[in-house]
Amino acid sequence: MLEVSNLRSAYGRIEGLHGVSLSVRAAEVVALIGSNGAGKTTLLRALSGVQAITAGEINFCGERIDRFTPHRRVARGIAQSPEGRQVFGPLTVADNLRLGAYTRRDREIDNDRDRVFAMFPVLHEKRSHAAESLSGGQQQMLAIGRALMGKPKLLLLDEPSLGLSPTLVDQILGAIASLKASGVTILLVEQNAIAALEISDRGYVLESGRIVLEGSGSDLLSNPKVRSAYLGAD
Ligand SMILES: Nc1ncnc2c1ncn2[C@@H]1O[C@H](COP(=O)(O)OP(=O)(O)OP(=O)(O)O)[C@@H](O)[C@H]1O
Ligand SMILES: [Mg+2]
Repeated sequence: MLEVSNLRSAYGRIEGLHGVSLSVRAAEVVALIGSNGAGKTTLLRALSGVQAITAGEINFCGERIDRFTPHRRVARGIAQSPEGRQVFGPLTVADNLRLGAYTRRDREIDNDRDRVFAMFPVLHEKRSHAAESLSGGQQQMLAIGRALMGKPKLLLLDEPSLGLSPTLVDQILGAIASLKASGVTILLVEQNAIAALEISDRGYVLESGRIVLEGSGSDLLSNPKVRSAYLGAD
């Protein structure tokens, strides 16, 4: 579904991605792990089109999309739930969800909103509240729900569990697992490497703008290098 080859991206003269290649097959959950500043967010932003690339190619569903505007990529089926949530604070929960469907013209929008409410019942309870009045975990659910409202083929999740309590982390990871079961393809960026690899089919380790390891979720979980660098084990 997604084929990224030799992607480079820079902030001014400083290159953040030094030729990244990876792929995601339909219906897979693929984890992207790596320490602070490794380039995970830069990579997701390059995929959604809000960060410019300087070299490389992005192919999505058989089409080269790296010159497309972010809007056109959303219309093709790529949605991102950004790091730090970035919901529209003064708008209600319901309006934030509606904005997630802005590229759509079909009749399924209300059904999809109901599906988001079924997945995160607290969003239904708070549908008329301003997004900024929600807790951090609820805002994270809203950011994921908003991305889902675009009916994406590929969902890009940037640190969905960041700063959440263990209960909420479990709830978010459970939601990701149920999305996988319903056939949504996911590229998941997480600092919480153990939890991410446990629910992922495959994973990549990004270090200083380069992919240094790849493998199945279980292979990476048992890889000694991964364990010492990212899992806090020896
Ligand atoms: N707006 C920016 N301007 C300049 N440099 C940036 C900018 N954003 C990120 N960088 C640099 O690019 C590199 C990759 O950053 P990025 O945010 O992609 O990392 P990350 O893996 O998402 O980290 P984190 O786990 O902290 O979210 C880092 O060296 C960072 O300092
Ligand atoms: Mg980041």
